[in-house]
Amino acid sequence: MKKKLNKIAKDVNLFLIRFLLKQKHTDLIKPMKYGLLPGGKKIRSKLIVDIGKIFKLRYQNLIQIGAAVECIHAYSLIHDDLPCMDNDSLRRGKLSTHKKFGESTAILAGNSLLIIAYEILSNSNLNLDSKIKIKLINLISKCSGHSGIAGGQYSDLSFEHKKIPLKKIIEMQTKKTGRLFSFCCIAPVIISKKKKYFKEFDKIGSDIGLLFQIADDLIDYSGKTKKVGKKTKKDSKKGKATLISLLGYKKTIKYKNKLKLNIFKKIRKFRNKSNDLKNTINYIANRTK
Ligand code: IPE
Ligand code: IPE
Ligand code: MG
Ligand code: MG
Ligand code: MG
Repeated sequence: MKKKLNKIAKDVNLFLIRFLLKQKHTDLIKPMKYGLLPGGKKIRSKLIVDIGKIFKLRYQNLIQIGAAVECIHAYSLIHDDLPCMDNDSLRRGKLSTHKKFGESTAILAGNSLLIIAYEILSNSNLNLDSKIKIKLINLISKCSGHSGIAGGQYSDLSFEHKKIPLKKIIEMQTKKTGRLFSFCCIAPVIISKKKKYFKEFDKIGSDIGLLFQIADDLIDYSGKTKKVGKKTKKDSKKGKATLISLLGYKKTIKYKNKLKLNIFKKIRKFRNKSNDLKNTINYIANRTK
């Protein structure tokens, strides 16, 4: 699993470096690269490749779509760390982008990364039918805006220091993290035009995203800053509404394991074609950084 993840991370980074090299040089490229390239796991790209494998899709297309997703993800992290949001000074073992370059630069680098994802997906070098590209762009828009990342981040911040019921917490986490994972799981379905799988992979994706966020919250609770590369034990200080704050640590682990088994049930029918996907889900559930 680790070896495959590293290869995908390397290929996505290579694509991004080349894509940025071809851009007109501006002063924002440096902070954009800083927030985008080093240190990220590129797990969302791994999911795209794993599901692309089930549908026998071309690897380089999957890497390019992964690159677009990683740009949106990197933007969301740069903004998530800002003082007006989570106010975090460490990310991926380095100063967060606003600490290194200043707040206004971080906001603009984040905006530029969000928008460059669309340049990557609409680029003529992406070897897909225009209709498919439009479908991908339409879906990634919905997953990133007010009904996805941005909307979920809004709820995450407005829930601070409040007692929020389970259903609302799940809803918020599914939006802020799950929707982009949904995109990763549906994109290969869109490319292979297997419409009947759309709903199934939408749900699989949001469940994997929720699993990912629960694991992230557990890492915040029990991980060490040095290993994780971001400041831990911050969620309780900030009064974040998480499953841990509502149910406690042990019940959250139980919830996570049950969710994982549920996802496994949904992908069982793909048998050994989904082995890589299964390994990625196990990695997501058990990761410690
Ligand atoms: C962190 O995402 C933010 C969450 C959605 C929990 P990742 O853990 O994927 O961050 P990187 O890209 O590997 O740093
Ligand atoms: C961030 O969740 C989710 C995003 C969509 C950016 P967190 O705030 O828990 O992510 P970390 O812990 O800072 O990486
Ligand atoms: Mg946050
Ligand atoms: Mg945060
Ligand atoms: Mg977190």
